[in-house]
Amino acid sequence: MSRILRIDASSRSHGSFSMEFADYFQKKWLEQHPDDEIVVRNLAKDAIPHIDENCITGFYTPKEQHTDALKSATRLSDTLIDELLSADVLLISTPMYNFSVPSALKAWIDQIVRIGHTFNFDADKGLYGLVEGKRAYVVTASGAVFSNPEMAAYNFLDPYLKTLLGFLGIGDVNFISIEGTTTDEKALEKSKQQAIKEIDDLVCQVPDEARLAQASN
Ligand SMILES: Cc1cc2nc3c(=O)[nH]c(=O)nc-3n(C[C@H](O)[C@H](O)[C@H](O)COP(=O)(O)O)c2cc1C
Repeated sequence: MSRILRIDASSRSHGSFSMEFADYFQKKWLEQHPDDEIVVRNLAKDAIPHIDENCITGFYTPKEQHTDALKSATRLSDTLIDELLSADVLLISTPMYNFSVPSALKAWIDQIVRIGHTFNFDADKGLYGLVEGKRAYVVTASGAVFSNPEMAAYNFLDPYLKTLLGFLGIGDVNFISIEGTTTDEKALEKSKQQAIKEIDDLVCQVPDEARLAQASN
């Protein structure tokens, strides 16, 4: 059995394309892996606070020296990092807002990117990620069509998330893009069909590790 951590970042509770296709992904996933557990964090319903001064002090203070104030300021970060580290698969659904991630998702990111927990630094290795052995799927929705070469330079969402997840140690990242949601009906229809195909292919490609392990015993 695997655990999937699903992070939903759209501010919309109705009509969100990124959530619609994350729902489709989840449905297909559970058809293939019925025993898997899905843990959902909806960042619009359950907003993550921005990191504040105590929180940052807590991030850079060894745990054994944490005062009650620092413990309390870093508690949410501890919880969110535990959720991430205990997941096998990360599914993020996110809109593009102003060419990048919504602030709701950035707030989650600021809580989980933490030295000594999800990345580290030493003189020999430099910076390295600690979130190992995971695969990520990112479902994005954008009003414009960034697969058009003349728009590609405006897309700071996919490259940012790819770099960030890679920094944490998650190199296996698959993007599913729903494009043209506010500007181009034809492109939207095309990208929706493509997304269905990509999700079907991606979910079927995943080996059921538990079953394979059982079979070899
Ligand atoms: C505040 C805001 C900013 C947006 N900025 C962009 C943008 O920079 N580029 C773009 O292509 N679409 C932009 N859009 C459109 C959304 O990406 C689009 O509506 C997308 O479908 C939203 O995701 P959702 O359907 O999952 O809610 C923006 C929408 C909002 C509400």
